[in-house]
Amino acid sequence: MGLGDDDSGGLAGLDPATLAVHAGAEPSALDGAAMPPLVLSTIYENSRAGEHNYGRERNATWERLETVLAALERGPRAVVFASGMAAIAAVVDAVPVGGRVVAAHNSYSGTRQLLRRLHHAERVEAVLVDIADTEAVTGSCDGAALLCLESLTNPMLTMPDLRACIDAAHDAGAMVMVDNTFATPVTLTPLTWGADVVVHSLTKYVGGHSDLLLGALVCRDPALAERLVEHRTLGGAVPGQLETWLALRGIRTLDVRVRRQMASAATLAGRLVEHPAVARVHYPGLASHPQHARAARQLEGGFGAVLSIEVAGGREEAEAVCAATRLWLHATSLGGVESTLERRRRYPAESDAVPESLLRLSVGIEAVEDLAADLVSALDGGASR
Ligand SMILES: Cc1ncc(COP(=O)(O)O)c(C=O)c1O
Repeated sequence: MGLGDDDSGGLAGLDPATLAVHAGAEPSALDGAAMPPLVLSTIYENSRAGEHNYGRERNATWERLETVLAALERGPRAVVFASGMAAIAAVVDAVPVGGRVVAAHNSYSGTRQLLRRLHHAERVEAVLVDIADTEAVTGSCDGAALLCLESLTNPMLTMPDLRACIDAAHDAGAMVMVDNTFATPVTLTPLTWGADVVVHSLTKYVGGHSDLLLGALVCRDPALAERLVEHRTLGGAVPGQLETWLALRGIRTLDVRVRRQMASAATLAGRLVEHPAVARVHYPGLASHPQHARAARQLEGGFGAVLSIEVAGGREEAEAVCAATRLWLHATSLGGVESTLERRRRYPAESDAVPESLLRLSVGIEAVEDLAADLVSALDGGASR
């Protein structure tokens, strides 16, 4: 029996590493092409178009990516968007006018900027709290329409108590969205912890090669998914077909990449703690991390592949480290095969909860000893200045 011959598509019970390769990967019904075709057509012949009609509504390449994302995130339905921000904006748009949105005070700066803008326009009431502080979250949920969590916050790598926060939000009648970009479904599937919607910037680990912009939502409730599809169709900022195809290619290696990246991140975190030019390492895999026990309970198989360090001294010393690395690319974003680092406070929109001297490190797939040597040499240079 081949995949697709039973009700679950033949995928029930398979390991995520297998799902990443096989979900949404059926040979083309048209000609048997074994690898997913890149469907560029925006129109379909009416006499045999079936459910496909016009490219702004749906596309077979998007649908393959949606199939594999839903399988990995353990949800009934995924919806692909033009970017992670487009996906987040679609969920926030489902909040009634004036509805309360509770989000992390140190969440991804784009999310915070969007909420601030909508708050000032009186479209929503945005309440920012420390989501690692369960009492602060539960105390803000009363009357809320939406709780926005990040599985690991960007860039401080703090972690909410998923069960407690989700239960409190549901008791208050709020929907819960979890941005799972940092943890990835390799280590965490928030729908299985009770979340209603999972959001991804596919631009990061799923794409994995820093060459596409894309986002996605995975919904527990198919009716909500339909509403979000409608938002995508009528909002009109739909995903590009090529980007979607590239993400389909990227997602096949998600498991193997992320596991290697996490192992290297853990090694580097352990070494950097010892370096005299590093004042503090933020990594949930370290016993010193304030939510280490929670992270160990909630994450399976690794603690993520991003770590942040506070460079001893201040912003100049931190910038000097960025300028001195040879392998680590001084660039924004994360989740690519290449290692990158960046001082996040260089952006005026970054939260002032983030120290000026903090560098966010996205660990790639290079040999960890090469990465360590390059970083230590840059830090040694900074320390001797
Ligand atoms: C955690 C997180 N969520 C969402 C986004 C937004 O994604 P995109 O840049 O694909 O719109 C980012 C981007 O950095 C991010 O780090």
